[in-house]
Amino acid sequence: MLSKVFSGATVGLNGVLIEVEVDIPSQGLPAFNIVGLPDKAVEEAKERVRAAIKNSGADIPPKRITVNLAPADLPKEGPSFDLPMAVGILAASEQLPQVDLTESLFLGELSLDGSLRHTAGVLPLVLLAKEKKFKKVYLPLVNTQEASVVAGVEVYPVSNLLQLFKHLSGVENITPAPVTSFSTLIDQTPFEFDFAEIQGQEQAKRALIIAAAGGHNVFMKGVPGSGKTMLARAYPGILPELTEEEAMEVTKIYSITGNLQENQSVIRHRSFRSPHHTTSRIGLIGGGAHPMPGEISLAHRGVLFLDEFPEFPRHVLEALRQPMEDGVVTISRAAGTVSYPAQFSLVAAANPCPCGYYGSDNKPCKCLPGQISRYQKRVSGPILDRIDIHINVPQVKVEKLIESSRGAEKSESIQKKVQNARNIQLKRFNNTKFKSNSEMSTRAVKEFCSLSAGCETLMRQAVSQVNLSARSYYKVIKVARTITDLEESQEITSSHIAEALQFRPKEID
Ligand SMILES: Nc1ncnc2c1ncn2[C@@H]1O[C@H](COP(=O)(O)OP(=O)(O)OP(=O)(O)O)[C@@H](O)[C@H]1O
Ligand SMILES: [Mg+2]
Repeated sequence: MLSKVFSGATVGLNGVLIEVEVDIPSQGLPAFNIVGLPDKAVEEAKERVRAAIKNSGADIPPKRITVNLAPADLPKEGPSFDLPMAVGILAASEQLPQVDLTESLFLGELSLDGSLRHTAGVLPLVLLAKEKKFKKVYLPLVNTQEASVVAGVEVYPVSNLLQLFKHLSGVENITPAPVTSFSTLIDQTPFEFDFAEIQGQEQAKRALIIAAAGGHNVFMKGVPGSGKTMLARAYPGILPELTEEEAMEVTKIYSITGNLQENQSVIRHRSFRSPHHTTSRIGLIGGGAHPMPGEISLAHRGVLFLDEFPEFPRHVLEALRQPMEDGVVTISRAAGTVSYPAQFSLVAAANPCPCGYYGSDNKPCKCLPGQISRYQKRVSGPILDRIDIHINVPQVKVEKLIESSRGAEKSESIQKKVQNARNIQLKRFNNTKFKSNSEMSTRAVKEFCSLSAGCETLMRQAVSQVNLSARSYYKVIKVARTITDLEESQEITSSHIAEALQFRPKEID
């Protein structure tokens, strides 16, 4: 007999409908074949499905079983087709009573004992089910939290094949999971450091507040032990909350890469990714034979922290140039082209030279001039030009360290100010594709950042004195816009421009 069950696969961040057809003719030698460009994990489903069906008390008929995954020209990856195949086999071998399977979508990886395991890529497929007007989705119980934010489709959490078998046979029904509203989801994971714990470093803190408010890139340069890594690790605590739309985008990326934990729901905090400098180009940008998102996409709408910036191989850093500009990375392979969003803000930290003390008042630098310039040149001019805010993080004075930090502002209260500034931006960019000042195009800068005559004069002076590139020119205005938003004022003044100009690099070697 022939049966047809629906499932889905992800291409990029979107789901594609897959029809799982199972044919079990009454004649033919016993065999189990899967066709439709299966990869190794799909191919191995044979063994999992066979064992799971047996261990759930049903039978695998000793006949010629053919499973077709249509459309045939789309490569199928991963173990999420286990469940639809098992259901298809049970239906085709007439072990399931005649039930209408056409309005349901099935997905999930099976264990040999028939239980369902946590499966990657569930959220995009539930959204697909909703889009294609399916009524029900059957998925692993441990993925329910992730799926339950999607309203308009019934989500059935399944813990094992036997339970699903009983449900489909009408013996014991599974209750659909209630829909969780986005606003009730709160993430209370504490942050590693609080801003109040960082002594001194007022200028660096101010720079990070501006960066958080406008989504700007930051480059921190300073002597060893001055607190660069600490500042960066405290940074997530002051970032604005993700909007619902942003959170869904980020969760989709985490879902397809298998980075979403069991029972984890939609991601609420902006992500903070800090890959080590030995990370490969594919690890950072994304790619592989079946292109997967890299760290820059996992940092989408969040922060990519590159500590010890000059230690990253140059070809790895150069690969950041295009995504930093476009906010999206497109990877082409023989198998096809996929695009992943990568709208991240970069936070980079570096020492000024190999020994770390160049320019320090307290300790002499032991490096030769050639060594210093070679070290600084490891990061190319075009990359530095893409960074809006450059700061020096000097060593903190001992008196500052001993001082009580009681009066220091806590991350929580800073976050509120940052959130305020971001809300102003969200309102401003209501009908555009931008979410923060840093994303503005040149045209948007002209539209939303009108400069007074005084500001224009200041900018003109800066262009001639500091030798600003065209890109930097607009970046200064964008940073000034953010400073204005933090003050909740409308007009950019020359003091805003002057502060923004302070964040330009002092020297680009
Ligand atoms: N401003 C500060 N206030 C409080 N503690 C600090 C400060 N700066 C540094 N520290 C302490 O010193 C430790 C080391 O600082 P951190 O790792 O941030 O230095 P760094 O600038 O990243 O150095 P490196 O260049 O060697 O990577 C921190 O974990 C913290 O305990
Ligand atoms: Mg460090």
